[in-house]
Amino acid sequence: MKNILITGGAGFIGSNLAIKLLTRGYNVTILDNLSEQIHGKDPKTTSPLYNNIKNSGAAFVKGSVTDRKTLEQVIEHQDCIVHLAAETGTGQSMYEIERYCQTNIMGTALLADVLTNKKHNVEKVVVASSRAIYGEGKYFCKHCGDVYPSAREDKAMHEGDFECKCPVCSSDVELVATDENSLIHPTSVYGINKQNQEQMIMLLGNTLGISSTALRYQNVYGPTQSLSNPYTGILSVFSTQIRNEHPLNIFEDGNESRDFVFIDDVTDATILAIEKKQSTGEIFNIGTGISTSVNDVAKELIANYGINVPMKISGNYRLGDIRHNFADISKADKLLDYKPKISFAEGIKRFTSWVKTQDVTEDKYQSSIDEMKSKGLYK
Ligand SMILES: NC(=O)c1ccc[n+]([C@@H]2O[C@H](COP(=O)([O-])OP(=O)(O)OC[C@H]3O[C@@H](n4cnc5c(N)ncnc54)[C@H](O)[C@@H]3O)[C@@H](O)[C@H]2O)c1
Ligand SMILES: [Zn+2]
Repeated sequence: MKNILITGGAGFIGSNLAIKLLTRGYNVTILDNLSEQIHGKDPKTTSPLYNNIKNSGAAFVKGSVTDRKTLEQVIEHQDCIVHLAAETGTGQSMYEIERYCQTNIMGTALLADVLTNKKHNVEKVVVASSRAIYGEGKYFCKHCGDVYPSAREDKAMHEGDFECKCPVCSSDVELVATDENSLIHPTSVYGINKQNQEQMIMLLGNTLGISSTALRYQNVYGPTQSLSNPYTGILSVFSTQIRNEHPLNIFEDGNESRDFVFIDDVTDATILAIEKKQSTGEIFNIGTGISTSVNDVAKELIANYGINVPMKISGNYRLGDIRHNFADISKADKLLDYKPKISFAEGIKRFTSWVKTQDVTEDKYQSSIDEMKSKGLYK
């Protein structure tokens, strides 16, 4: 395998992956429509991500995964496809439903269609799935065993009760790691899209004899992630607020948590999935296996920037947000020998050092909140 196509390859994960694959001697082609939300109005001047790959040696095709002609042309001579192109804002997916399904579902359907109906040499497809497909992760109830709480109720959250309860007996539950066999019950349109993408690609692998792999990434962060897109990633949002010396608006009570995985660990995992035969037909969680609370994220960022803004624990919440989720990564460890190397403290140090080299971007977060408020999705 020599020729690799990365759809969405100008994005955060794709651009870092492209650069790493080039150093390993692959020929890399990137298909990306340079979506304005990620890359700004004029990518040559407004997108650091695009500039990173522009002179990297990767072939670049500007176009959409929803365009048949472009996709047919770009697939020719490829041995492997890493399908990353997507609309990725979980909150935004709740009110831009058609746009999300168009790119995420129809783009993947077109890819599957072209691979089924056109002659090609593709042997391997890796699709980016997400922890979002699990919705609220796995919990343990001392009466009922393993349980999967559904979306929390508006009324309980309004009263400041944010923890999940057992869906069977309503007792308190203990958070445990979510493994790949955990219940899939997404709480966002984005999560539904990711589930659909993953299922389509895995099914295709079976019927066409293409080696397919789905990677359920947890919350990916690191240098080069977009600092201006207010729809993704609390690390970017908080960084922009801190650098603008605005107080941090901490949702819920700040004890909600996620599994934050550093970009280099994610690109390494993706390369393992491309190169190792053991990945064929398999689905893997890619995270660190460690959960970090939003309060701890905020404290770590404030300490690293050395700008002491107040942390305002607002009790605000977004309907559809999950409380906790962290990955059981033992399958990826066992089959792919995937071992995340960068601790959260080290990753934040590297991330904030990079942010400090970037211009302070305008804090657009409030307008994204106002947008959600107007749709009744933010309380
Ligand atoms: N970053 C994370 O924390 C995370 C977590 C789980 C899953 N993922 C998945 O990983 C993949 C990459 O995520 P990312 O963080 O690099 O996102 P990103 O937004 O930085 O990159 C996505 C890229 O896709 C491009 N794109 C959007 N619509 C397109 C279309 N119609 N045709 C071609 N290109 C299009 C965008 O221009 C962008 O460059 C996505 O599929 C995402 O759902 C990311
Ligand atoms: Zn119970």
